Amino acid sequence: MNQHLRPDPIPFIDIAAQRRRLGRSVDDAVARVLAHCQFINGPEVTELEAALAAFCGAKHVVTCASGTDALLMVLMAKGIGRGDAVLCPSFTFCATGEVVALTGATPVFVDVDEATFNIDLASLKRGIATARRLGLKPRAVIPVDLFGQSADHDAIGAIATAEGLFVLDDAAQSFGASYKGRRLGGFGVITTTSFFPAKPLGCFGDGGAIFTDDAEFAELLRSVRVHGQGSDKYDNVRIGLTARLDTVQAAVLIEKLKIFEDEIAARNRVAQRYAQGLGNVVTVPHLAGGVTSVWAQYTIRLPKGTDRDGFASALKAQGIPTAIYYPKSMHQQTAYMDFPIADGGLPVCERLSSDVISLPMHAYLDEPTQDRIIKAVRGYST
Ligand SMILES: Cc1ncc(COP(=O)(O)O)c(C=O)c1O
Repeated sequence: MNQHLRPDPIPFIDIAAQRRRLGRSVDDAVARVLAHCQFINGPEVTELEAALAAFCGAKHVVTCASGTDALLMVLMAKGIGRGDAVLCPSFTFCATGEVVALTGATPVFVDVDEATFNIDLASLKRGIATARRLGLKPRAVIPVDLFGQSADHDAIGAIATAEGLFVLDDAAQSFGASYKGRRLGGFGVITTTSFFPAKPLGCFGDGGAIFTDDAEFAELLRSVRVHGQGSDKYDNVRIGLTARLDTVQAAVLIEKLKIFEDEIAARNRVAQRYAQGLGNVVTVPHLAGGVTSVWAQYTIRLPKGTDRDGFASALKAQGIPTAIYYPKSMHQQTAYMDFPIADGGLPVCERLSSDVISLPMHAYLDEPTQDRIIKAVRGYST
């Protein structure tokens, strides 16, 4: 590095490094699809669904066009609509609550836990009571496994069962993570994920999947996925979507899934070194007992009073990109601020939105680059 020049910029997520590792395998897989021309419902789609099921232990996998469609398809298949309430954390990507509003139901936003950033159980209970007080029928909860870390599914499941709700786990950021030794999607809870390119397992476009152990429900989802088809595609027995994963993306994902286990291990090594290097200057992510993370984001909290914009600019000047997920929680967004929030308010979501910042994180972040990032953060914070 020439000291008169700006330091080499570090990519936030290095998709090019992964492409180099994959060599020609993805190109060859795409070429096979271009040769057989079954661009919709080609053999790779079925092959991928089987491979994903084997990877996480789900009985049935229904791939689809995006993580948003995956959530929406489940709500549609469950008949969620006007008058229903669906509880979701407010500190999440907007799709979690957006799909609820799209069905005509009401998202009721609840707070998150200060340590894990995942749904807060006491606020969830308060949110259910809030929904009832407003004359809504609580039907479902969408916990989110935020930034790659599994939520506390036993505790959420217990509340859902007691209150008569079903659980739709939004694992858009966390496919590959586990809860008490079992991978998300593999323990019976209806689970969705996203294959957006920046996700831990991403394709080269949009994509998503739904995981369920219920064969009948999987069939229902397959119908919703193609315009609510019945015995054939010109027999429409329900309102549906056009939400298939295309064959080219399935072919890409089959190749990427082969190296995913190894990439998860690499992400965990980066997270460990970050924690060692930064744990005494900023608040580093906290993993709850019995869970793992795939580190979709490595999100730190800056000490009280730190100028977050100044911090980001100082790192940027050293070629280190950062990102803020999420500068506003959902209930603070123009489109969602009129929806109800759990009684007691959402103070943790609001605090997190004001002090979190995410550092570069991917499986190809080598140790010298990690050290450069650690040094820059320490340089600003100490
Ligand atoms: C928590 C969460 N839910 C849902 C989605 C939606 O996924 P997609 O972008 O594939 O529609 C995302 C994507 O960023 C997400 O992070």
